[in-house]
Amino acid sequence: MVVSMKEMLEKAKEGKYAIPQFNINNLEWTRFILEECQKNNSPVILGVSEGACKYMGGFKTIYDMTNDLMDYLNITIPVALHLDHGSCFEVCKDAIDAGFKSVMIDASRFELDENIRITKEVTDYAKLYNVSVEAEIGHVGGQEDENNSGILYAKVDECIELVNQTKIDFLAPALGSVHGLYKGEPKLNFERMEEIKEKTNMPLVLHGGSGIYDEQLKTAISCGICKINFNTELQIAWSDALREEIKHNKAYDPRKVIKFGEVALKQCVSNKIALLGSSNRA
Ligand code: 13P
Repeated sequence: MVVSMKEMLEKAKEGKYAIPQFNINNLEWTRFILEECQKNNSPVILGVSEGACKYMGGFKTIYDMTNDLMDYLNITIPVALHLDHGSCFEVCKDAIDAGFKSVMIDASRFELDENIRITKEVTDYAKLYNVSVEAEIGHVGGQEDENNSGILYAKVDECIELVNQTKIDFLAPALGSVHGLYKGEPKLNFERMEEIKEKTNMPLVLHGGSGIYDEQLKTAISCGICKINFNTELQIAWSDALREEIKHNKAYDPRKVIKFGEVALKQCVSNKIALLGSSNRA
């Protein structure tokens, strides 16, 4: 059964490593990621964006699929199924009502007071069901589902205010990362990251993990990041491999075609686990 992120992220904070969030898009991705994380004995967070939720047939379908796959594949590592960037209370409620034990409310597009009000509405509901909550402040740039936006660095005093006024479990302060591909070098504010960790004592989350240099990811972990989200790099690894294979392989059975990207996707998952230090932490 899927679990909340609370215990795995508290342990990661204690042990100074990070848990990967890999976004899922379909049954095959869910299976490949679960199998590879089990092989590495790493806890994992499966992220579900609103767009991916619509694509896969709703939260209940995804919840049942994940739990049933875990049973079928004998998955014993801790697995959190997490709503990624829930845009409003109603979407978070839908995910919780379907059985999700973890949600992200992203009201970062609003002013602080409104962000706090919406986030608190979600935490009040989530706590009734022991669901863990992540919130964002500042703004992660780039592409999320169909939306495109600029970077806004989180302010330390606003992070403290958000944490004090709500009952969130994890904080995602935007500090220079973007969703999708970076134009030029990623510019993360590590000094502020560390200050936010010291002053809020929250497990911190880094969005937009794809394209951030390995050394930067390690520095981020040393500055308090306990969860790092990856989506684009997995998509590129999977689709590049599939495109290459399909040039000469005449297979037409969809089960075979979709599997063309399996090895590359799994390699990418294993690389991230090694980098984040989450193997053998299950
Ligand atoms: P990337 O697609 O840049 O890896 O970001 C994923 C993410 O942060 C999902 O919330």
